[in-house]
Amino acid sequence: MNQYVLLTGGAGYIGSHTALCLVRAGYNVISFDNYSNSSPEALKRVEQLSGKKIITITGDIRDQAALTAVFSQYSISAVVHFAGLKAVGESTELPLHYYDNNVAGTVTLCRVMRHFNVKKLVFSSSATVYGDAKEVPIKETSARSATNPYGQSKLMIELILEDLVKAEPDWSIALLRYFNPVGADSSGQIGEDPNGIPNNLMPFISQVAVGKREQLSVFGNDYPTPDGTGVRDYIHVVDLALGHLKALEYLEQHKGIEAINLGTGVGYSVLDMVNAFSTTNQVAVPYKISARRPGDIASCYAEPSKAKTLLGWQTEKTLEDMVRDTWRWQSQNPNGYQS
Ligand code: NAD
Ligand code: WQD
Repeated sequence: MNQYVLLTGGAGYIGSHTALCLVRAGYNVISFDNYSNSSPEALKRVEQLSGKKIITITGDIRDQAALTAVFSQYSISAVVHFAGLKAVGESTELPLHYYDNNVAGTVTLCRVMRHFNVKKLVFSSSATVYGDAKEVPIKETSARSATNPYGQSKLMIELILEDLVKAEPDWSIALLRYFNPVGADSSGQIGEDPNGIPNNLMPFISQVAVGKREQLSVFGNDYPTPDGTGVRDYIHVVDLALGHLKALEYLEQHKGIEAINLGTGVGYSVLDMVNAFSTTNQVAVPYKISARRPGDIASCYAEPSKAKTLLGWQTEKTLEDMVRDTWRWQSQNPNGYQS
């Protein structure tokens, strides 16, 4: 019988790039997504790009019966769990919705996995679990904290999964702590397609460049950083996708739970990103300096050596790759998957 890897949230930004990476590596992939923040078109394009079939199931991870039906029908060897809500601002307005979707959804997923004795799980965690870290670069052993319900939900899930492994040591779990994913597949066919006004820097820059927004607001230029604007560890989504493939391979051989940073180890400022985008793509990105965004931190970048040691993974893409691939996707699909 064919073995499958189940991707919850497989139609999303990181899920669709990971689906492409996995099918190209020979995995059979099932996506389970409620499309609350994505389009079925993304995985159609992954099928076109790869020439491989992806089984797509519409469903919600909080729906135990729907998940049970999938595990009953297919032989699933591992789960990569992307499904979750991720807008920090919205999470402060709708905390119950975020805890229900992200935390309760994950508990339901794990319950069903356990029932079917599927105990390999890659979880989409986030550098947000480090809160306002005391030191950069940030190691996996750095203290965890959260400043908003979204971040709390990721931290709670990490704690729940740690307790699960303590109780049942035959699980194999990777907590992948992503830094700031950007970019798109080099085909320009799949990419990040946020609903409404983008919260994140890169989609905002690219929507300004394509003429959908007038100008970028740079949130603060008085941080203790080289140019005063916030510094982050931007990671190309194709490198990130490959990290999931490596994590699945690792879980084949290892039991227990590991938290692993997925970042480049290099920080770039907001103005670095604006300049790289306009220079590489020869397109104007008008901006103004505005007030700091509440809750933002000055500087956040990874100490990425654990991923190299454990998974044999490190990033390969450059800043130019990130901004060029973002622009190819945005300029070819000015209205995302509606284009
Ligand atoms: P995304 O919104 O593009 O993808 C998430 C997918 O999950 C979407 O397709 C959405 O429809 C689906 N989904 C949400 N709730 C669901 C539910 N209850 N049942 C089934 N499907 C559901 O986001 P992304 O950027 O691809 O992020 C993937 C994961 O990585 C998320 O868990 C996110 O929190 C985490 N993460 C993202 C970033 C980032 O900046 N993009 C950084 C760190 C961590
Ligand atoms: C990056 C930098 C902003 C928009 C968020 C989540 C985090 C993780 C990734 C999921 C900051 C500046 C931004 C704009 C700006 N997601 N900026 N103008 O805040 O590092 O992280 O996404 O886990 O949890 O908090 O990413 O892209 O929003 O901001 O000046 O219009 O760009 O101040 O310095 P952030 P971001």
